Amino acid sequence: MTFLTAILIRPDIQKRVQDELDAVTGRERLPTFEDRPKLPFVEAVCKETLRWRPVTPLAIPHATTKSDVYEGFFIPKGSVVIGNTWAILHDPDVYPEPEVFKPERFINPDGSVREDPALTTAFGYGRRICPGRHFVDATLFIVVASLLSVFDIKRGRGGEGSGAFEYLETYTGDLTR
Ligand code: HEM
Repeated sequence: MTFLTAILIRPDIQKRVQDELDAVTGRERLPTFEDRPKLPFVEAVCKETLRWRPVTPLAIPHATTKSDVYEGFFIPKGSVVIGNTWAILHDPDVYPEPEVFKPERFINPDGSVREDPALTTAFGYGRRICPGRHFVDATLFIVVASLLSVFDIKRGRGGEGSGAFEYLETYTGDLTR
């Protein structure tokens, strides 16, 4: 849903992904996992989807197994610690204009994908980090690539289309920013 919302707001991104896909598949077949290294912009869209609206913005609470001191703060054993994934992935010093869906931020000047270790925070922290993240990584890629290789995603005019968009706006906030 986050990907579909984002692509409705930025039709230019949709076109860029489709051009990249067409160049690789020749519009004669669906994309496959083997195509992945040749689809850096699809990769960037997937990364930005996870960053822009993290599914679990405060992850899952953890508890400290022993007392610790972090940046001068004493944290007693047994404290509940909540990782602020939203703040990490919307830090304007790391992600300028964090509220804007901008996959370009994950593309290096030479066109390669910029790896970002901080993105793992979308899946939690430490030894209980989400084991499903590899499944998500593969699924998100193939869904984004397959959908945009055969469909143009457009905002509906009237009827259910605009209703769905309004629903998404209630969920994600003002999408016109
Ligand atoms: C975008 C999709 C997903 C997100 C954002 C997500 C996020 C998370 C987060 C934040 C945690 C808590 C990690 C922590 O304790 O710090 C978690 C745990 C977990 N996730 Fe996911 N998850 C996703 C999809 C999946 C999928 C597809 C599966 C299974 C196929 C899965 C299986 C699990 C399991 C089993 C745990 C518990 C791990 C443990 O406590 O040891 N997740 N996930």
